[in-house]
Amino acid sequence: MEQQLKQLEQEALAKIEAASNLKELNDVRVAYLGKKGPITDLLKGMGKLSPEERPKMGALVNTVRENVTNQLEARITILEEQAIQEQLEKESIDVTLPGRKIRTGNRHPLTRVIEEIEDLFLSMGYEIAEGPEVEKDYYNFEALNLPKGHPARDMQDTFYITEETLLRTHTSPVQARTMEAKKGEPIRIICPGKVFRRDNDDATHSHQFMQIEGLVIGENIRMSDLKGTLDALAKRMFGEEREIRLRPSFFPFTEPSVEVDVSCHKCGGTGCNVCKQTGWIEILGAGMVHPNVLEMAGYDSKKLSGFAFGIGAERIAMLKYGVDDIRHFYTNDIRFLSQFHRTEE
Ligand code: PHE
Repeated sequence: MEQQLKQLEQEALAKIEAASNLKELNDVRVAYLGKKGPITDLLKGMGKLSPEERPKMGALVNTVRENVTNQLEARITILEEQAIQEQLEKESIDVTLPGRKIRTGNRHPLTRVIEEIEDLFLSMGYEIAEGPEVEKDYYNFEALNLPKGHPARDMQDTFYITEETLLRTHTSPVQARTMEAKKGEPIRIICPGKVFRRDNDDATHSHQFMQIEGLVIGENIRMSDLKGTLDALAKRMFGEEREIRLRPSFFPFTEPSVEVDVSCHKCGGTGCNVCKQTGWIEILGAGMVHPNVLEMAGYDSKKLSGFAFGIGAERIAMLKYGVDDIRHFYTNDIRFLSQFHRTEE
């Protein structure tokens, strides 16, 4: 019996050693130590032994059981650790892998142009003003020296809502509104916003577009101030080497009025397809605020003077980014819009 036990022990230990996973180990445990296992069988057979032999055999059986159990447990610990290790390796995250790119949106090219212009003027101490898109005839025309029946109204045919309300044709009504609100105080504002005109849409015309109005009123504001301001604007938007030139023009709300050209950023002034071989590109209308406009808003035109300008945001964006059709700005084609992604800034 002793022989048998030793052999069982050897067998069990060998199998424990050979077991490569927890399940196999458990099989060994059940097979050798389980209720139906050979060791239990031997214990049951103890009754047949002589009383002298019993204690010796009992002790032996216990030692064998203990040995096998200890070995089992030791092996279980090892296998468990191995399993954890394997799992860790399988699930390990390589933090050095490059991340997946998240597609983000970007600012609309018109927004970019407007923000850039706003930044420039904010840095010069201007405030940003806004006005309604559905405007009173009074602010859109009358307060700007365009009384009812004035022929210059034809230049800006618009969408009337009633006799007295309309979709504003320019951002200039914000001039009149701001002057009215400031009650004779000096003013320095920039005003971006949507404007509407009854135009047939084509590559360069749109019935709705964006303007950026500027208005400065104070003591001793002169044409040279306007010129210096617009020169800074042209340089900021199209490059430090740019120059501007003023051509006489007409707006009922400014006197004198000018049309402002910037030297061509593509050819530098020698003539190319962008500037139509002239070397100059028209970018905005401006002038000295008409005394009638000042007086109508309650400003003393003898004491204060001012200048105003109106920029077409689309026009600036088209020139700056080489866009050939104004309609690209409104059709939300992702292929167009994604070209203005931040990374290209
Ligand atoms: N409001 C004019 C336009 O839309 C532009 C302008 C603004 C001209 C301010 C002079 C002064 O055509």
